[in-house]
Amino acid sequence: MTNPDKYVVITGGSKGLGYEFAKLYAREQFNLILVARDEKELTKAAKELEENHGIHCHTFAYDLSDMGEIDKFHKVTKEKNLEVAILINNAGFGYWGKFDKMDPAMQIEMLNLNITGLSHLTRLFVNDMIKSGSGKILNVSSIASFTPTPFCATYAASKTYVKYFSQALDYELRDKNISVSTLCSPDFLSGFQKRAGNPNLIPKGPYVGTAEGVAKVAFKQFMKNKRVITPYSLFGLITCYLENHVPMPDGIKINIRKWIVEKEYMAK
Ligand SMILES: NC(=O)c1ccc[n+]([C@@H]2O[C@H](COP(=O)([O-])OP(=O)(O)OC[C@H]3O[C@@H](n4cnc5c(N)ncnc54)[C@H](OP(=O)(O)O)[C@@H]3O)[C@@H](O)[C@H]2O)c1
Repeated sequence: MTNPDKYVVITGGSKGLGYEFAKLYAREQFNLILVARDEKELTKAAKELEENHGIHCHTFAYDLSDMGEIDKFHKVTKEKNLEVAILINNAGFGYWGKFDKMDPAMQIEMLNLNITGLSHLTRLFVNDMIKSGSGKILNVSSIASFTPTPFCATYAASKTYVKYFSQALDYELRDKNISVSTLCSPDFLSGFQKRAGNPNLIPKGPYVGTAEGVAKVAFKQFMKNKRVITPYSLFGLITCYLENHVPMPDGIKINIRKWIVEKEYMAK
């Protein structure tokens, strides 16, 4: 799969899970394109990756919640003749709280990034992949995608969108030699908790991992074309299976989720 003429795009590749993915691809000698908003963080990450692994790493500072900026990012990759073999749609953020009390501008920004931006960026690169005859896409969803989740109602639903979108798109692109996988990530400590509104939170429970551990499992399974990736502990896998395959009224599922979120995320 390694090809020095082709690139792996990682959105949100400067920090957290995205940076862990970047390290894994760099270790395997893939050249990289990282996108995030903070130029300084991007430059720092790229320097480390290039020095440690001898690869090329391009960085682009764009806000992917803005469709105009996504168009500009795609255009610049074309102008520079950077052919993309793998797209990892990782940039995203959560926002916890009571729906009616949350800042509407931040809600819209989150939905623009997690749903609209992810779909638009995918649309642009899918066309290039179809022309080049192959491609791979990984869309980062969450454990929150499985069940309606009070107090992060919009975030959890945005990740359900990512999962369903990925599965349907994978079906559509089957005859084009393009696979689309989705990572239903467990919780892990990163910049995520601060942006979601609870900077002191340390994630705990059966659905918790580390950014490094989640990226390692996801990288391996994605490169083997696994379509829905669930890197949980055995207990997490069992409870996830029960939650999704044992018939249970939605009311019970929602109450379990509400209890987890209240306990973990709403506690200050
Ligand atoms: N952490 C968890 O517990 C958890 C659990 C399940 C799923 N996830 C998912 O995992 C993914 C990565 O999250 P993380 O925990 O690694 O978060 P993180 O540490 O906050 O990193 C987020 C990355 O995305 C970039 N980013 C954020 N907003 C952006 C925007 N508007 N345009 C371009 N880039 C943007 C950030 O850089 P800039 O700030 O410089 O833009 C950063 O590189 C997200 O999709 C998240 O929903 C996380």
